[in-house]
Amino acid sequence: MIPSLSPNISHNLDFNSLPHHVAVIMDGNGRWATQQGLPRITGHRQGAKTLKNLLRCCYDLGIGELTAYAFSTENWRRPSEEINFLMLLFEQLLKQELEQLHRESIRISFIGDLSILPSSLQQIMALSREKTQKNQALHFRLAINYGSRQEIVHACRQIVQQVHQGNLTLETLDEAVFQQYLSTSEGSDPDLLIRTSGEMRLSNYLLWQMAYTEIYFTDVFWPDFSPSHFYEALWHYQQRNRRFGRLVGTHLPENRSLF
Ligand code: FPP
Repeated sequence: MIPSLSPNISHNLDFNSLPHHVAVIMDGNGRWATQQGLPRITGHRQGAKTLKNLLRCCYDLGIGELTAYAFSTENWRRPSEEINFLMLLFEQLLKQELEQLHRESIRISFIGDLSILPSSLQQIMALSREKTQKNQALHFRLAINYGSRQEIVHACRQIVQQVHQGNLTLETLDEAVFQQYLSTSEGSDPDLLIRTSGEMRLSNYLLWQMAYTEIYFTDVFWPDFSPSHFYEALWHYQQRNRRFGRLVGTHLPENRSLF
């Protein structure tokens, strides 16, 4: 079951308690390239290879969902050449990989405001989503022109509309109902978030969904993030004690009061 890329650390992993949903912030492409005297776009191209490798790893391990932050609502502040390059890269990769991903029963979907993306990109995105929507092996979600605050405001607008139309009442609105209006409504919340390049922030990514996500930061730049780095992140995840607010694992005897 373990892919041939499997490094030593895989021996220490418990393959029965892997995260179901992994989210990634693929940071450091530009710095990786600059460090080597290469143009920033080379970093993005290399970053795309890293993403493909990670997808392969998740698939081989039986991880259920992978959500990757490819372009944020704030990334429009970059130079137009870089933005245009990224849009072309997304389109090229989807065209190139769609058949193979479909053959492996990988479901592809997108979150974010796609309406302002180039129309040729929107077309291949729509095709990828439709063609793979019944696939069961792994749900691969790409966040493009995604911003969590925007997503939450959008959900609120839809909810208010539903209330106005009499389809929803304030009394029935709870967390479970609210999350149905988010773009991730069909999936589960991420169990593990990995952010590369040493930055330690969420950058407007899945803020609602990550209320109880375990976060793993690494200094490695995204283009260098290899399967062994991924196994290391999984190992760290497995050392965490996920309590979800409970006292389990705090070594307090069950019959003893805190006070
Ligand atoms: C952040 O690094 C990376 C991005 C904004 C782009 C991520 C895109 C890819 C990895 C290509 C993936 C391809 C597909 C099909 C989704 P940065 O540019 O902010 O790096 P820096 O912080 O070093 O400048």
